[in-house]
Amino acid sequence: MQAVRPRQARAARDFSASQSRLPDAVHARILEDIGPVRAAGSVLTLPFTGARFRTIRAAAEEHLRTLLDISDDFAVLFLQGGASAQFGLVPMNLAPPGAVADYVETGYWSRKAMDAAVGAVRVATAASSAQGGFDHVPPPADWRLTPGAAYVHVTDNETGDGVEHPDAPPTLPVPLVSDMTSNFLTRRVRLTAHGVIYAGAQKNLGVAGLTVVLVRRDLLGRAHAFTPAPFDYTQQDAACSMVNTPPTFAIYVAGLVFEWLLGQGGLPAMETAARSRSEALYAAIDGSEGFYRCRVQRAYRSRVSVCFDLADASLTPLFLLAAREEGLDGLAGHSRIGGLRAGLYNAVSQEDVAVLAEFMGDFRRRFQ
Ligand SMILES: Cc1ncc(COP(=O)(O)O)c(C=O)c1O
Repeated sequence: MQAVRPRQARAARDFSASQSRLPDAVHARILEDIGPVRAAGSVLTLPFTGARFRTIRAAAEEHLRTLLDISDDFAVLFLQGGASAQFGLVPMNLAPPGAVADYVETGYWSRKAMDAAVGAVRVATAASSAQGGFDHVPPPADWRLTPGAAYVHVTDNETGDGVEHPDAPPTLPVPLVSDMTSNFLTRRVRLTAHGVIYAGAQKNLGVAGLTVVLVRRDLLGRAHAFTPAPFDYTQQDAACSMVNTPPTFAIYVAGLVFEWLLGQGGLPAMETAARSRSEALYAAIDGSEGFYRCRVQRAYRSRVSVCFDLADASLTPLFLLAAREEGLDGLAGHSRIGGLRAGLYNAVSQEDVAVLAEFMGDFRRRFQ
C-alpha cells in the first residue's frame, strides 16, 4: 500500500446543504484527538465498551439535554441508519399494526417520509402544499387530523424546497413527530409539543453516521415485535444507545459540537445568527430586480436552506462555475429539484454569507 500523504486542502466557503462543514474550533480539536498513526487512544477507534467512550457518550447526552432543556420525560437516543431509516422506524415504534398516521406534506422530504411509511402504517395526508408547488406550510388550523391517529408527522425544514415551519407547533391531541434533520439546534424548540424529534447528524451536529432521536418516554414500549433491536427505541433507551456498536466517532464529534454550541450562547444565539444570515441572503435575492428569484412565500422561507434560482436558468452552470472559482462551494440545488441553494447551517458565518451576497451582486452586474 502506498504511503498516505496529507492533501493540501483548499480553503473554501462551503454552502453544501447535504453535509455541513464543522465549526473551525471543533475541527481543530478533532485533529488533536486523532493523534498520529498508531497513537494510543485515538478517537477514531474508540471501543464502545471502554470507560472513555462511555464518558464521551454520557457527556454528549448531558450537553444536548442542557442545550434543549430536555427533561427526563424524554429519552435521548444516538442511533444509526440516518433520518431516512426513521421514516420507517417511526411507525414501527409508535403505531400498532393497522393504525393510521397523519402526515403534513410540504416538499420532497415529507413525501419521502410518507412513501417509506406505507406498509408499516396507513398513511393519511392531513394537509399538503403540493398544489402551490410547495411554496408554503399549510397552517395547523387547516390540518385534517384523523381521530385516533397514532401520530402526526411534519418535516420542520424542507431542505430541498427551502420551506420551514414558521412557528412552534400547536399542542395536538396525538403525538407530533418532527423530522428536524436540517434545522435541529438552529432555534429553540417547544419540546412539550412533541412526541418524537429526529435528526441526522450531518447538517448541524457533525459528521454522517449518527441519528439523534428524542422520544417522549410515555411513547416507549410500543414497537412492533419484528423491529430490529438496534432500531427499537425502548431497547436502545434501556441500553444507553449501546444495544450494539454505536457510531462512536460521530457521537464524539456531536458531543464536541454540542459543547461548542453551549460556548456560543446556546440556541438563542444560534436562532439570532440563523435569522441574520438568511435575511442577508434573501435581501440579495429580493433586491436583484428579478435576476434571482425565491418562489417560497416569505413567511415560510427557510432560515437554513435558502433555495433560489436565476430568471435565466441557462446561466446556472456558469453561476456555479464562477462561484467555485471564488471558493464558494456547494451551491447547486437538490438533484431532483434543480436551481440553486445555500445551506446556512450553524458553522456558516455571517462573513461567509456576505461574501456570497457580494459574489451574487457581481455576477448579476456581469450578466443582467
Ligand atoms: C429533512 C431531511 N430529512 C431526511 C433526510 C435524509 O437524511 P439521511 O441521508 O440521513 O437519511 C434529509 C437529508 O438531507 C433531510 O434534509
